[in-house]
Amino acid sequence: MAKHAEKIAILGVQWGDEGKGKLVDLLSAGFLNVVRFQGGNNAGHTVVVGGKAIALHQIPSGVLHPSCFLVVGSGVVINLEGFRQEMEKLKALGIEVLGRLMLSSGAHIILPYHIALDKWRESFAGRIGTTGRGIGPAYETKAARIGVRLGDLQNQHGLLERIANLHKEIGLIMGGQEALPSPEAVLADLNSLSTPLLPCIGDTHEYLFNSWKKGESILFEGAQAAMLDIDHGTYPFVTSSSCSIGGLFTGTGLPPKALHKVIGVAKAYATRVGEGPFPSELDGPIGESLRQAGHEFGTTTGRPRRCGWFDAVMARHACQLNGADGLCLMKLDVLDGLDRVGIVKEYRHKDSKNVIGSPFSIREWDNIEPVIEYFDGWRQPVKGVDKWGGLPAQAKKYVKAIEEFIETPIAYVSTGPDRETGLLAPRSCLKGLL
Ligand code: GDP
Ligand code: IMO
Ligand code: MG
Repeated sequence: MAKHAEKIAILGVQWGDEGKGKLVDLLSAGFLNVVRFQGGNNAGHTVVVGGKAIALHQIPSGVLHPSCFLVVGSGVVINLEGFRQEMEKLKALGIEVLGRLMLSSGAHIILPYHIALDKWRESFAGRIGTTGRGIGPAYETKAARIGVRLGDLQNQHGLLERIANLHKEIGLIMGGQEALPSPEAVLADLNSLSTPLLPCIGDTHEYLFNSWKKGESILFEGAQAAMLDIDHGTYPFVTSSSCSIGGLFTGTGLPPKALHKVIGVAKAYATRVGEGPFPSELDGPIGESLRQAGHEFGTTTGRPRRCGWFDAVMARHACQLNGADGLCLMKLDVLDGLDRVGIVKEYRHKDSKNVIGSPFSIREWDNIEPVIEYFDGWRQPVKGVDKWGGLPAQAKKYVKAIEEFIETPIAYVSTGPDRETGLLAPRSCLKGLL
């Protein structure tokens, strides 16, 4: 496909795992650059090509297209061992990453200490249900200005001391340093893991600024999602990065005017992994059937995902937050065979029955009673349907109801995991790009 000049962001609007990976892979065919700007290897983005699933965690999901240049911005936290493993898996599939990769020298490195602290915290009551990848602690030491960045591996002046300070500080928090590897061992590992990557570490802001000025196309791949955003999500049950639109600008250094379009991504129902509020959760047999039909088990940790109806209050809020021009609705086929499908259209206070907007404190979330509108299911499956006209009338009605509730036009409907399986909606803002 001919490359164009568009700059487009793909952002999750639920609690992650919406199918961002599939969409980014699909769109990447027409883009020169694909950029990750936040998160780390807590992300798990599955791309299915010819029936074969490839799980990506830190490498941008445009990697399967050899013509795409891959950028990892400064807002990302990097696990170097994970990066090595991911590159190796891709190499075994005949996909080379080195030579078309740039990593920001400002990206922070996830150290074994961060992982140990994450796991230690999760062993207590009140846990968040993190991925255990050290994400929160890595962003904490970044904010505390005591972290280690990729650029520190190129110029190691004072680096061992920084690592030793982290060893000491995190050891103190955990009440003992015995279980932690020595600073010397950590530095030796970082050096061996980073050797092949050293030539790829550089000023990604400068690279992206020049790409923008040259009129090159850039696809920005969000990880996690708005409801896991550190500021705008269901705090404290969130991740530690800015997963909505603001994170794109801080995590790349590009200004808002560099972006043409923002595309939200949601499943046709809802899932969440880990603890935290989930007003539309289905605990019973319907939730279980969604889990089985949608293979709702984490790409990163294998944990079963909690499942529920599509929550239009939350998705509308997330689309507004991101300024979404369109929404891609994924996994519609998972609802095939259900007698009826529900959409949460408003939240009411469980005692007063007053309508409430998007609550911000955990106490408020506890008082929510979701108001669900039900729609007829469809007998003829949508799985594999590739034209809007091919959708059964009830499925069209369901998609249009979502569009109306969230006040954002549907851009694309996905009807299967494979790259080719899906359709453009009639008013799609992705026309010409997909
Ligand atoms: P991400 O984190 O947003 O990239 O999403 P994940 O990859 O963690 O989870 C989405 C899962 O749904 C993956 O296994 C995809 O292969 C799969 N998937 C994506 N789109 C569709 C679809 O339209 N139908 C079905 N059945 N599966 C899909
Ligand atoms: P992708 O990019 C779904 C969740 C964890 C936990 C919370 C905090 O695949 O959509 P963390 O390890 O980040 O400190 O965990 O966030 N979480 C995700 N859930 N998809 C993800 O990423 C997630 N990344 C983190 O389950 O509830
Ligand atoms: Mg995922």
